[in-house]
Amino acid sequence: MLRELQEIREQARIMAGKYDLRFYTRYSREYDYSREVFFSHPLIHRLREDVVPFLNDEFGHGIEHCKKVSIDAGALALIETRSWLDVKTSKRITLLAQMAGLLHDISRHESDHARKGAEFSRIILQHYPLSPEERDDLAFAVSNHEAFREVLEPAHQKQELLSDVLYDADKFRWGPDNFVTTLWEICSCEEWSLEDIIKRFPNGLLYIQEIQETFRTPTGRLYGPEFIQCGLEMGKFLYRSLKERYTEGLQQQTVTGSG
Ligand SMILES: [Fe+2]
Ligand SMILES: [Fe+2]
Repeated sequence: MLRELQEIREQARIMAGKYDLRFYTRYSREYDYSREVFFSHPLIHRLREDVVPFLNDEFGHGIEHCKKVSIDAGALALIETRSWLDVKTSKRITLLAQMAGLLHDISRHESDHARKGAEFSRIILQHYPLSPEERDDLAFAVSNHEAFREVLEPAHQKQELLSDVLYDADKFRWGPDNFVTTLWEICSCEEWSLEDIIKRFPNGLLYIQEIQETFRTPTGRLYGPEFIQCGLEMGKFLYRSLKERYTEGLQQQTVTGSG
């Protein structure tokens, strides 16, 4: 990675660390419960081992992304189900939400990755202790997680809930996380130059802005836009930094060239 990009990425990491997002303070108990399940439940442990080979990348971003999605989806599931489901069922859906988080990007390097990931999920889960309905619900959630696509029709309320919490937890990552990891992973994959990144930045920010209208759960609609606003603030700052560095680089080249 270019030295300039490494510096900007470090700026992004420091900036992201300063945000105190309300979702995590308001729902710290649910988040902590979900986190504990993620690191202690045998089914999650087993699934983590099964998906790691398909998520691994040069920087470990794929694994880190899915871990965050899983824990947030689990917390959202707990929050969204407690008013209409008994505790046991609510906890089961929390577990399924985490499984959906681990599985959702399993085919991320393929086109139509949500649909292919759903098919692949069924293969991975074939010997897991799940009911046929739970397998269907997980596959549905994975196939329905992509932004700006037609939202698929769920078969029942629990299926819809699982799909919605996965979607929202995944789109929370379009906030600060986008500038700490996702963007740099794309830059590295696509081998974009500094100039390429600067050219694409304004459209990228517009794209991110539009996601805040798409959150699906009541909690996501309430707290999701804050993630996106923080991401946009970071994005605008980093864009200015990139342009300054690029202009400085050009000026230095001109001076060297004329000397
Ligand atoms: Fe995805
Ligand atoms: Fe994702």
